[in-house]
Amino acid sequence: MSRSTEPAKEKILYVDDEEANLVNFTMSLEDQYQVFTALSGEEALRICQREPGIAVLVSDQRMPGMSGLELLEKVDQAHPEMIRIMLTAFTDLEVALEAINRCHVYSFISKPWKEELLLLTIQRAVETHRLIRENRDLSRRLVTVAEEERKRLARDLHDDFGQILPSLRFTLEDLRASLAPSTPEQQRLLAQTDEKFNELGRICRKAAGNLRPDILDRLGLLPTIDTVVNECARDNGIEIELSVCGQPKKMDPECETVIYRVFQESLNNIRDHAAAGKAEVMVTFSYPLVILTIRDNGRGFAEEEAVARAQRQGRGIGLLGMRERVASMAGSFILRSKPGQGTQIRVALPLVRKR
Ligand SMILES: Nc1ncnc2c1ncn2[C@@H]1O[C@H](COP(=O)(O)OP(=O)(O)OP(=O)(O)O)[C@@H](O)[C@H]1O
Ligand SMILES: [Mg+2]
Repeated sequence: MSRSTEPAKEKILYVDDEEANLVNFTMSLEDQYQVFTALSGEEALRICQREPGIAVLVSDQRMPGMSGLELLEKVDQAHPEMIRIMLTAFTDLEVALEAINRCHVYSFISKPWKEELLLLTIQRAVETHRLIRENRDLSRRLVTVAEEERKRLARDLHDDFGQILPSLRFTLEDLRASLAPSTPEQQRLLAQTDEKFNELGRICRKAAGNLRPDILDRLGLLPTIDTVVNECARDNGIEIELSVCGQPKKMDPECETVIYRVFQESLNNIRDHAAAGKAEVMVTFSYPLVILTIRDNGRGFAEEEAVARAQRQGRGIGLLGMRERVASMAGSFILRSKPGQGTQIRVALPLVRKR
């Protein structure tokens, strides 16, 4: 007899201080889902921590200890991908508004619930969770493929030009020797050609570094940020302060790359658009997150308007790309900027990527 290979059941978690409700809920849903239950917010958080990939959290509001709202808010921050549903009495309008505005709940179920409505709401929530996950996986794959391609191009540039350029310069040396004694005009042309080869080498190294700095793979994120900050400050006359807070922790290479790309794009934008005299880069290790904050005291901008303007000129993918990369890692991205008041970007990512 062959074993069935049914897909694993989606996980849902229900929190309520009334045990009878937990039993009813489980009986209604356990055929279709893997149901976890908790009698308090504290217990629910422990389950969220222990069980990866819970799709939907359903929480009662009134519980001794942590309230439903407090729980939903904590889950919103720690597990933003989990779809949150609140169980509440019809009359709790204020709670409902808080739940929407502060905790970004997906839906409400009124108590006592009608079984049909409960099943339908959970089914839709699970489907939404699946779509969000699929979307995130897809963006992550796109980001990874683009990054691999950049790495490959950087390597090719470095390896191919790295071999050809020195050999061209040797040939030039031979030519110089075979022309001796040469005229001043010939000498000038040879020196000019030599300088052009030098310049080509510098351009190639810079292009390869922009595609993917090799020290990122050799030495890691912080030394790379330090080097790029110093170069940018030196080349553009901007005072840039770099600080690292907390104990640096090892992070997933994917997470490292996303932080680096946001840093790189933000610094490019400061250089190209901000007209800033000062900037600040801060990397904070606050387990389980790494947080990057970049501020400048430049001209600031209104995002929607500026991006639309840049896109009309065939640009404007910098900010979009940053958001996309951060979303692909289930991180958070906040941009604060106003004309005349500088710009601040804050990105928080899990140090270890969520599967
Ligand atoms: N730090 C900043 N200070 C002032 N304006 C900024 C800053 N960052 C971005 N902008 C504005 O936002 C616009 C969009 O930025 P974005 O990085 O998306 O595109 P871009 O830099 O114009 O082009 P690219 O696609 O090459 O990055 C910019 O054109 C600029 O007007
Ligand atoms: Mg840009």
